[in-house]
Amino acid sequence: MKLVKVRDHEEMSAFAAKFILDKIKSNKKVALGLATGGTPVRTYEMLIEDYQKNYTSYQNVFTYNLDEYEGIAPDDPNSYHAFMFKHLFDHINIPKKNVHIPNGLSNDILLEAINYEAMIDEIGGVDLQLLGIGQNGHIGFNEPGTPFDRETHVVTLTESTRKANSRYFESNDQVPKKAITMGIATILKSKEILLLASGESKAKAICRMFTGEPGTDCPASVLKNHPNVVVVADEKAVSKLEATMNVELLLR
Ligand code: F6R
Repeated sequence: MKLVKVRDHEEMSAFAAKFILDKIKSNKKVALGLATGGTPVRTYEMLIEDYQKNYTSYQNVFTYNLDEYEGIAPDDPNSYHAFMFKHLFDHINIPKKNVHIPNGLSNDILLEAINYEAMIDEIGGVDLQLLGIGQNGHIGFNEPGTPFDRETHVVTLTESTRKANSRYFESNDQVPKKAITMGIATILKSKEILLLASGESKAKAICRMFTGEPGTDCPASVLKNHPNVVVVADEKAVSKLEATMNVELLLR
């Protein structure tokens, strides 16, 4: 894992936007794994700004989102579906048929998970997977304790994740209890991974993912087993790690 230390959220977002744009521009066809949450919103804004200024085309970009709540319709404003269209897809020229997000309303959610994984296998894993990180070290909705060999599956969200995500809902009770998520094994099929972290609330998870052996107590620590991972963390997110070790050794 390589570490890129940046000053703040803005610098993190600029790095990520450029990284993604370089991929889009240098490939005829590119499969991007995308995340929701607060972390990538500014990155998506920057992609939109670039689109408006430079007309970078998304006609040959295919997207695969990490996760979706169970039991929420795609047009529900709280769905990850709606999130992605609001924050990115509605503002760029990506064909709707190129967008893939698990269907949380599927009649057969287990089959939905199997089919989603098969679709990712068909393309041989995404070219670039964008990840945020949970305060407890989760990636996607793979909470601590998730075996590293899990593929796309249905998950019961932990209380800490439901609490962290309640900011998007009117009340805590409205946060769904289950979600469908790419598994850790699915994420590891990606050819390249870009994990973003900003703010003090991520400092503990960033510290754990870089120190010690990969362990299911911190799902993100599994990324040590992947050959092509870049972690972009701002000063606050990297503060605990810096207190523990000389991060210069990790910087690229
Ligand atoms: C989102 C996702 C989650 C988030 C994580 C961080 O699709 O899979 O793992 O990346 O919960 O969320 P934020 O960015 O809101 O801190």
